Amino acid sequence: LPSQLIDRFGRRVNYVRISITDRCDFRCIYCMSEDTVFLPRAQILTLEEILAVAAAFTELGVEKIRITGGEPLVRKGAVELLTEIGKLRGLRELVLTTNGSQLERTAFLLKSAGVKRINISLDSLDAERFRNMTRVGDLEQVLRGIDAALDAGFERLKINSVVLKNRNHDEVVSLVDYAIAKKIDISFIEEMPLGTVDDHDRAEAYYSSDDIKQDLERHFLLLPTPDTTGGPSRYFRVSSSETRVGFISPHSHNFCGTCNRVRVTAEGRLLLCLGNEHSIDLKRVLRANPGDMNKLKYAIIDAMAIKPERHYFDIKAQPVIFRHMNATGG
Ligand code: GTP
Ligand code: 5AD
Ligand code: SF4
Repeated sequence: LPSQLIDRFGRRVNYVRISITDRCDFRCIYCMSEDTVFLPRAQILTLEEILAVAAAFTELGVEKIRITGGEPLVRKGAVELLTEIGKLRGLRELVLTTNGSQLERTAFLLKSAGVKRINISLDSLDAERFRNMTRVGDLEQVLRGIDAALDAGFERLKINSVVLKNRNHDEVVSLVDYAIAKKIDISFIEEMPLGTVDDHDRAEAYYSSDDIKQDLERHFLLLPTPDTTGGPSRYFRVSSSETRVGFISPHSHNFCGTCNRVRVTAEGRLLLCLGNEHSIDLKRVLRANPGDMNKLKYAIIDAMAIKPERHYFDIKAQPVIFRHMNATGG
């Protein structure tokens, strides 16, 4: 068995994103439609199956695992699962992406579980706007969650803001001010066309990373830095602060050439690219061969042959990916 996963374009896959549930207590307008129906329990991987998948990947040289959702912390047993994944040999970084709603309760437990970094979605600092963008979220609850994570002593927290024109594009400076005050990082994300959304027209709501950068440069000095977290963000350091500003620009600065990641959906589909449907069904492999780690590993190795070169997102066209973000984990 090889000790590394390499695709046919020579890219090494050392980062896996595992969605542990498609459920979420928010209904963000760029992520879901209002009437999203969640998957029945029997269709999603059990905690034991997720742990087996994580173990298989680390045995194949994966060093970074990011747990996502839906909202991962609404799944019962999430903290216990993270604790087990955190013990896997070879894993350098166990990280988490969350909407922050459950952090006040779980931050200390996550730190003890060995979670290194947490990325928290925060699109607005205005309570009403925050409610509009998440449809149901409570801003104060999330801000308390961020403070709880800071108190718990996480080395690095990062905010993720999806920026939509005429929704929150005028808040990028205040969001960076907030990040500076809290000594944390922030990434601005161009909306990706996954699934249909019923709230806005994605082409009209497009606000590019370059537009955001220009807005920020009227207030901050952004210094180039080679820093990377191994994800798609291009970082700049905000002068005289401890904050890095990142841009995730699937439309304006394609980052597929350096792609180092694959994802596992809540249903156990190994998805080779966020913007394509190429996948293999790990759940079937797991359930047909209980306890057989080699079968699982061979399935993962074989899948590298179908990792696509890049995504072809076109914000002006109807989405070609029907999956919503919540089923994919971002
Ligand atoms: P770091 O480990 O901090 O670099 O995190 P990350 O940016 O890899 O993960 P996060 O969960 O915070 O995701 C931020 C945004 O990046 C989300 O909108 C993801 O959908 C997007 N993203 C992450 N990986 C990919 C990818 O391979 N392709 C595309 N198109 N978007 C991605
Ligand atoms: N486009 C870009 N980012 C998205 N996210 C959710 N849906 C989308 C989308 N359609 C973001 C969330 C979260 C991260 C995992 O993905 O805001 O921060
Ligand atoms: Fe939930 Fe995250 Fe989707 Fe928002 S972006 S609805 S928080 S999964």
